[in-house]
Amino acid sequence: MDSILVRGNGPLNGQIPIAGAKNACLTLMPATLLTDEPLTLTNAPRLSDIRTMTQLLGSLGAEVVPLQQGQVLALSSHDISNHTADYDIVRKMRASILVLGPMLARDGHAIVSLPGGCAIGARPVDLHLRALEALGADLELRDGYVHAKAVGGLKGAVFEFPIVSVGATENALMAATLAKGTTVLKNAAREPEIVDLAQCLRRMGAQIEGEGTSTITIQGVDRLNGATHPVVTDRIELGTYMLAPAICGGEVELLGGRISLVEAFCERLDAAGVSVVETENGLKVSRKNGRVRAVDVVTEPFPGFPTDLQAQMMALLCTAEGTSVLEERIFENRFMHAPELIRMGAKIEVHGGHATVHGVEKLRGAPVMATDLRASVSLILAALAAEGETVVNRVYHLDRGYERVEEKLSACGAHIERIKA
Ligand code: UD1
Repeated sequence: MDSILVRGNGPLNGQIPIAGAKNACLTLMPATLLTDEPLTLTNAPRLSDIRTMTQLLGSLGAEVVPLQQGQVLALSSHDISNHTADYDIVRKMRASILVLGPMLARDGHAIVSLPGGCAIGARPVDLHLRALEALGADLELRDGYVHAKAVGGLKGAVFEFPIVSVGATENALMAATLAKGTTVLKNAAREPEIVDLAQCLRRMGAQIEGEGTSTITIQGVDRLNGATHPVVTDRIELGTYMLAPAICGGEVELLGGRISLVEAFCERLDAAGVSVVETENGLKVSRKNGRVRAVDVVTEPFPGFPTDLQAQMMALLCTAEGTSVLEERIFENRFMHAPELIRMGAKIEVHGGHATVHGVEKLRGAPVMATDLRASVSLILAALAAEGETVVNRVYHLDRGYERVEEKLSACGAHIERIKA
């Protein structure tokens, strides 16, 4: 298994291009199952999760051809020859559940294994299932699989999500595009990835209103057509690299970044004393004088502070002046990076959904272990600012969500290299 070696060495300066969003792309890809015409996605990120989705769609009879070194994906589901999403693929990635809504909507039946994914709490899929049931699906859970049927097709309905769920909103939104009549999704997620999905579906001929607000209305149509759609910028990759100059000092421009994608996060950076300026090409982030200030953070659904940036923000706050409290409200058990940061000299106490971070002047390099995707990159950020050498083990998590990390950070002067297993 590969590991990453980092030698902490002062300020970073330069530019980092931000890729298309993993989470948006993983939702857009299954949208191919809604139509027999080609769907082309541009600005796709090159990540192992995208390859896993390619494999899953391939197993269902769809074709996914990566073009331009994987930055363009040409998808086609002329024929869905297999309606079963097998455990062996689904267990690798939770987003696999997103094939359920589209297959069910197009062909009236689907069998999908219950998913695995990052070990950050229980993460059930009950809301996905309840939303599809509201649209008239008959569901049965048997042997670890969801067996879904919609004889005569799905029917539009009003469904209110009891809690905000990104994935469940996406599954329901895709399914509703081909349901008969009108669907109203209330308490829907408002994430930029949902807006991106709705825009793509609209290009495919879907009738959708209200994406980006908590009520989305979908007028079902008989069929969808092909389209070409650019994947939205990855706001989590953006926020992650914004933290690099915040932690190490220096000035880095994040190409393709926009404040509107990370507003709540920028507000916390500002409170911590990190400067963020929108430029013609993206966002310029700098920290020039002294340590950052401690700030409190509460993770919330969009437009709140994203849970997917909590681990990275904790890395920053480890060296802040003062004490910060981070509250994780989206997932239980999402502080697994804390014990690893403690190995690097951080002072952190975790009590249930809260972590209290007492800032220290310097972290020290140490061998650490990546436990999930965002945790692994938080350790790399911490290592960039630490004294001495850090080896981050088990980086396969990292490769699920970040392309060419070593290259992007080295270009700004970081000492970081991959050690091949
Ligand atoms: C998506 C993202 C993930 C991100 C998360 C929150 C993808 C592939 N993944 O995950 O990276 O961390 O949004 O921004 O886009 N819940 C239920 N039942 C369900 C579904 C969710 O109880 O059926 C709960 C979850 O356990 C969690 C909360 O709802 O506490 C929000 O989860 P959700 O927004 O669905 O996250 P994901 O779609 O899994």
